[in-house]
Amino acid sequence: APLRILVFGAALRAGSLNARLASLAARLFTEAGADVDHATMREFDMPLYDGDAEEAEGLPAGARALHDRIARSDAMVISSPEYNASVPGVLKNAIDWVSRFRPQPFKDKQALLLSASPSLVGGNRGLWTLRIPLEHLGARVYPDMFSLARSHQGFADDGLLADPSGQQRLTETVRAFLSLVEADTRYVCLQRR
Ligand code: FNR
Repeated sequence: APLRILVFGAALRAGSLNARLASLAARLFTEAGADVDHATMREFDMPLYDGDAEEAEGLPAGARALHDRIARSDAMVISSPEYNASVPGVLKNAIDWVSRFRPQPFKDKQALLLSASPSLVGGNRGLWTLRIPLEHLGARVYPDMFSLARSHQGFADDGLLADPSGQQRLTETVRAFLSLVEADTRYVCLQRR
């Protein structure tokens, strides 16, 4: 069976540059033979984390839906903006809620991080901070992250990256990550036999 890859655009706004980068990644993973589950933060409505609300009402439906999508995938890709050189609160809040489920679905999950920003740094500092909660939860965050700088001018009309060398690097990153997930999935299968 093909590998199931959750590709998650982590911003709420409809015109999100990270949603565009996630769409491109989804297309590249599909072309590489994966079964892509494409999601955006807009689908997962949840309140701010509150321990009292968790005790009284349990885990919110939006967090459960995101949990289910993560749990069902062989690996996940997150395309996230950088806010003030860090993780956007909306994404951190979603990670905090999802981390309350048992089994906790980030454990041993392969994760590839992408970012898009109009800035010259492309949101890469935010991705370094996103590694912290994900690795804390046991995700295996791929070392090579992809950040698209000047992303407001970064996309061609066909949805590919305007810069061919950037496009080539993204395609190669997608292929390399997918082959790692494939090898890892096979290894886990052998271990469980
Ligand atoms: C930003 N932005 C931003 N960009 C960046 O490269 N480094 C940063 O530290 C910040 N900080 C920041 C804080 C806040 C509160 C906002 C709203 C924005 C700009 C950000 O990269 C830009 O708005 C992107 O377009 C946001 O991503 P989406 O929504 O296009 O995916």
